[in-house]
Amino acid sequence: MTAASRRWRAQGLTIGLVPTMGALHAGHLSLIESARSENSKVVVSIFVNPIQFGPGEDFGRYPREPAHDAELLRAAGVDAVYRPSVEAMYPPGSSTRVHVAGVADPLEGAARPGHFEGVATVVSKLFSAVEPERAYFGQKDAQQAAVVKRLARDLDFPVEIRVCPTVREADGLALSSRNAYLSPDERRASVSLSSALRLAVEAYAAGERRPDELRKVLCGRLEAEPLARVEYAEVVDPETFTPPGTLAVLAVRIGKTRLIDNHELSKVFPG
Ligand SMILES: Nc1ncnc2c1ncn2[C@@H]1O[C@H](COP(=O)(O)OP(=O)(O)OP(=O)(O)O)[C@@H](O)[C@H]1O
Ligand SMILES: [Mg+2]
Repeated sequence: MTAASRRWRAQGLTIGLVPTMGALHAGHLSLIESARSENSKVVVSIFVNPIQFGPGEDFGRYPREPAHDAELLRAAGVDAVYRPSVEAMYPPGSSTRVHVAGVADPLEGAARPGHFEGVATVVSKLFSAVEPERAYFGQKDAQQAAVVKRLARDLDFPVEIRVCPTVREADGLALSSRNAYLSPDERRASVSLSSALRLAVEAYAAGERRPDELRKVLCGRLEAEPLARVEYAEVVDPETFTPPGTLAVLAVRIGKTRLIDNHELSKVFPG
């Protein structure tokens, strides 16, 4: 991998990296397209990163679809796929972790202790292995993108972090590999996230600025859905992920599946 990067670098070619955990969908493909349009070479990494999963989480049953992924990547014309094994990424004895303070602490950081440390560590290792000019992340995981920006700045990685819009199903549900877990009833219930965000955007457009009222709009819609259990629903600053702000962020359990979504309230909701 590093050899290919070095060769491309030496030829003056630019590299765009798209880090993923596989089970690829149109959200990932949109990141690949952005990378394609801004770089001469596109590298996609596929690595289900054990250290970003908590003890009770779904590492073991996380969707893995190597054949389908390979087909999509071939069709998308990516230049290289980086698919390290867990042993190659974390050889026996490796014990260094990258901890981002501040932006990694609230919301996802509080709900999933150790999660962002796992993300920051693996992303740092991917940057070292691939040495991309640009790396592509999805707005769906807004706090993750903010954590990665912070880490790239603080550790002097010479990489530009690009954040791409959330790709949604026709009914508004944000694409996510974990949507595969949803039963038909849960799939219907999962529209409550995007629907809550849409209602909050409408309230904001109508002039509502009171944080509590905006939160009530979000929670009201989510709580109307019997299969949904709200983990958090906040309106925060898009850099610090603490209130006050205009980014509505949600984490909701639909049955056993944990979904997240977000939207900037001052922007039109698509669809
Ligand atoms: N709907 C989407 N639109 C745009 N980007 C997305 C979307 N879903 C995921 N991504 C981005 O793809 C990258 C890889 O994410 P990952 O492989 O974890 O997929 P995922 O769908 O988020 O999976 P999961 O369901 O486990 O959260 C991340 O930068 C993520 O933000
Ligand atoms: Mg994800």
